[in-house]
Order: sequence, then structure tokens, then C-alpha cells
Amino acid sequence: MSSNSGRVYAVTGAASGIGRATVERLAADGAYVVAVDLNADALRWTDSVDGVVAVDGDVTTEATNEAMVAAAEEHFGALHGVFLNAGIPGFGLIDRIPMATFDKVLDVNVRAVALGIRAALPALRKVDGGAIVVTGSTSGLAADPGGWTYNASKAAVINMAKSIALDVAHEGIRVNAVCPGPTKTGMTEPMRAKATVDETMRTVVPMARWGESSELAAAVCFLLSPDASFITGVALPVDGGVMATTGQFPNFAARAAKA
Ligand SMILES: NC(=O)c1ccc[n+]([C@@H]2O[C@H](COP(=O)([O-])OP(=O)(O)OC[C@H]3O[C@@H](n4cnc5c(N)ncnc54)[C@H](O)[C@@H]3O)[C@@H](O)[C@H]2O)c1
Repeated sequence: MSSNSGRVYAVTGAASGIGRATVERLAADGAYVVAVDLNADALRWTDSVDGVVAVDGDVTTEATNEAMVAAAEEHFGALHGVFLNAGIPGFGLIDRIPMATFDKVLDVNVRAVALGIRAALPALRKVDGGAIVVTGSTSGLAADPGGWTYNASKAAVINMAKSIALDVAHEGIRVNAVCPGPTKTGMTEPMRAKATVDETMRTVVPMARWGESSELAAAVCFLLSPDASFITGVALPVDGGVMATTGQFPNFAARAAKA
């Protein structure tokens, strides 16, 4: 039996990609889940899943984050963990895109995560082993050309998670960041549709493929679970080896093996 069985979690960005895969995995493991997303129609997939309650809303508002926590306590009697995962991309050179894009990306990818943590902490203090996982990115651990906006947001959310991990560790609450590499989700669909980008990605990722949302979900469910009871303040890459390389040299061994 999974150690998440019978526990109660909330997941944001649950209509699609990594968030949806995490809700599916938690529900399959016997957990109860509050699934939150802006896209009410796309969130309807949860209607047929036992033990999952949907909350439609924008995570940049306090109201949505409070509704998420209230739904967990009202429907399932507690909240053991939150996966604050909703996020948006934002790319373009610094003198070519409006500052409004930067403000929006920071609002969703960083400020909304802070709102989620503030809303969840009182509930997490009532249970044993409360856990918070936020979604960082390999793009928060290193930089991408044209990625200054997204890079800034993901570096910020990772270090924010580490700082809060220090502040709440003595209360037995853990805070970690999962850092996906290139993963097959709605967000990367436009990139994957371009043959040149798809091919470049396969040469940059040591495992020579895109990650699956289910592979991210597996790592998130572990970090949320009591199995990770002594892990806090970590930024865990789940990236097929991207963060292990300087990227300065082609992978001759892999190319020779393929030839
Ligand atoms: N896919 C990748 O390669 C990749 C890599 C690194 C990090 N990430 C991060 O993973 C997280 C999940 O992204 P994904 O790849 O699954 O993308 P996705 O687009 O498939 O899913 C993101 C979900 O978040 C929701 N959302 C966006 N803004 C919201 C808001 N304000 N309020 C509520 N919901 C909102 C969207 O409606 C969508 O359902 C994001 O934080 C993203 O930055 C993704």
C-alpha cells in the first residue's frame, strides 16, 4: 500500500500535464485530492475520479488558495500536503517583450505559490508530517537564452521554497521543489510540434527523450509522502540528466552507441 493512502492533498494546475498526472497518481494510491485550476472545462476530467474534488479558480488570488484549503478540510477532514504547480511560460529578449509579461509570469509562478503556502500552513500545522512541494524547473537552476523572465521566476520559487523550508522545519513541515526538465505537457506542445526544436531537445537531454508527466508525478508523490520524512529544502531535478552536464561537449559515447 502507498504511504500516501488515506492522506489528503491539494494540487494546483491540475487540469493538464504534471498537475493532472500527480492527481491521477495520488488518487490511484488511495489519497484524497483537491484539484485546482483556472481552466474549469479542462478540470472536468476529475468528475469521474473517486476521492477527487475540483476547485475552479485563479491561484493568483487569495480567494482560490483559501477555497483550496477549505475544500480539503470540509470534504476530507484535513490537509496533509500541497503541490503548488500551476505555472506559465514567458520567453522573449529583455528589450523586446513588455514588462507586463514579466509581472504576469512572476505573479503566477512565484507570488501565487507564496499565497498557496500562506493559505496551507494553518491546516498543515494540525497534522503530522505536513508537506509542501512547489514546481521549479531546470530553468530555475541554470539559464536559457531568451528565458530571463521564466528563469527569474523559477530561480525565485526554488529559493523561496528553501527559505520557507528553514522557517517551518522545526514544526515538522517539509518544503521541497521538484525541477522538471523538458516534459511532454500542454506547455511544451508547441515546441514539440517543431521538428528542429524536438531534435535539439533530444541531443541536449542525456537520456535523449522528453520526460513523461507520470515520471514527474512519481517524484512529487514521493516528496509529498511520509517516505520523504527527512527530506526538506531540496530542489530535485527530474530531467533525464540535463543538470548533470555543462552542455559544453557533445555526448560522443551516446552518439557512438547509436551509430
Ligand atoms: N513541461 C515542462 O517541460 C516543464 C519544465 C519545467 C517546469 N515546468 C513547470 O511545470 C508546471 C506545470 O506545467 P505543465 O508543463 O504541466 O504545463 P500545462 O500547461 O500542461 O499545465 C499547467 C496548468 O496550470 C494551469 N494554470 C496556469 N495558470 C493558472 C492560474 N493562474 N491559476 C490556476 N491554474 C493555472 C493551466 O490552466 C494548466 O492546466 C509549471 O509550473 C511549469 O512551469 C514544466
